[in-house]
Amino acid sequence: MNRKNVVKLADGVYWISIRDWNRRLFDALISLPNGTSYNAYLVTGGSLNALIDTVNPGFEGDLQAKIHAVTNPEDIGYVIMNHAEPDHAGAIPYIMKIASDAKLVTTSRGVKLAQTFYGVPQERIKTVADGETLSLGGKTLRFIEAPMLHWPETMFTYVEEDGILFPCDFFGSHLAMGVYSDEVEDLLVHAQRYWGEIMMPFRAMAQKALEKLKPLNIRVIAPSHGPVHRNPKIILDAYRRWANGETRPKATIMYVSMWGSTESMMDQLAETLASEGVELAIHNLALSDVGDIAKDLVDSRAIALGAPTVLGGAHPLAVYAAYLVKVLRPPAKFAVLLSSYGWGAAAIKQIQEVLGQQNIEVVGALEVNGPPAEEAEKRVAELGKMLSKKILEVS
Ligand code: FEO
Repeated sequence: MNRKNVVKLADGVYWISIRDWNRRLFDALISLPNGTSYNAYLVTGGSLNALIDTVNPGFEGDLQAKIHAVTNPEDIGYVIMNHAEPDHAGAIPYIMKIASDAKLVTTSRGVKLAQTFYGVPQERIKTVADGETLSLGGKTLRFIEAPMLHWPETMFTYVEEDGILFPCDFFGSHLAMGVYSDEVEDLLVHAQRYWGEIMMPFRAMAQKALEKLKPLNIRVIAPSHGPVHRNPKIILDAYRRWANGETRPKATIMYVSMWGSTESMMDQLAETLASEGVELAIHNLALSDVGDIAKDLVDSRAIALGAPTVLGGAHPLAVYAAYLVKVLRPPAKFAVLLSSYGWGAAAIKQIQEVLGQQNIEVVGALEVNGPPAEEAEKRVAELGKMLSKKILEVS
C-alpha cells in the first residue's frame, strides 16, 4: 500500500482511504469477497482543518501517514464523527491524542457513544444540531442528522462550497478497489448488496434522509466504504427505488434439502415460475452467501422458502433464512413455502413462526411426505402459477 496515496476531490478536500484488501468478514456475519475500504476525508479551510470519520482499528498509523501527506495531523481542529461504529470511529482515540486541541463533532445521540466507546471527555465534544453549520474558513460544513442509517447517532456532513456529501455508510459498498464508482464494473450490484445487508431494514428512515437531501446541490457523494460517486444521480436514483421498496417481477428462491425431496419441489416451482416469465434468483442455503441473498431480496417481489422437517422442526439453515427475512425486512409481497418430511410435518409451522408478522402474503404452503409424487408435483406447479400471477399482476 502506498501510505501517502491521497486523492484530491476538490480544492481542500481529500480522500484519505485505507483499503482493506484482505478483510473477508464484517460484523462476524457479512462476507466481503472484495475486501472493503475505510474512507476518511480531510477538509482544509482557511482557518481550520476537519477530519471526516476515521478508520478501522489497526490502521491508525496508516491514517496518520495519509493525513501527513496533506497537513500536519496536530493541526486538525475538528474530528467529525458521522457514525460511531468502530470501522469509522475506531481511530478516534489515536487521532484525538495527536490532535490534542481538536474537538469531536457529533450529534446529541453520538455524545454517549463517543464517551463509552472511545473515551472522549465531554469538554472535547462539540454537539451539533440537524442543519447546523461550521465554518473552517472558506469551507462550510453542514450537518444533516440521519438517524438509524444505520445507528441512532448517524449524520451526514455536506461541504456547501463544493457540493460534496459525506454520508458515511449510506451510499456505500464493500469494495477495496477503485476511487470513483465509474471505474468499477457493476458498481450498482455491489451497492445493492450493501443496501440489502445494512440499510434495507431502515427503508422508512432512508426515505426521510433522501427527502432531506433533495434541496442540496450534491455534485459528489463520498461514502466511507467503496468508491466515490462523481455522478451522484445513478446511486441517488437506485437508493430512491430501494428505499421506496420498488420490486421487479422476480422471486428469490431459498431452500435446503437433505435427500433431494425438497429440492425437487423447489425445482418444479422454479421451472413453473420461469415458464411464466418470472425472473429467478435461486439460493441453495447450504452453499449460498448471505450477502448474495440479501442483494436479491432487495428487489424481489416474492420469496419461496423450502426446507425439510428434521429433528422436530425446520432444517436450521431454513430457520436462519426465515430469520434473515424477518430482520432484513425486504419489500417482497408474496411467498410460497414448501417442505418434505419423513414421519412428522413441522417445518412450515416453524418457518411461519420465525417469519412472524410480515406484510407478505403466503400464497400457498405445501408439506409432502417423502419424495414428491405426481400429485404433489401438480400441486407445486399450481402454486407456481398462482405465485406467478400475483407477481406479474403488480404493475
Ligand atoms: Fe461502516 Fe456502520 O459502519
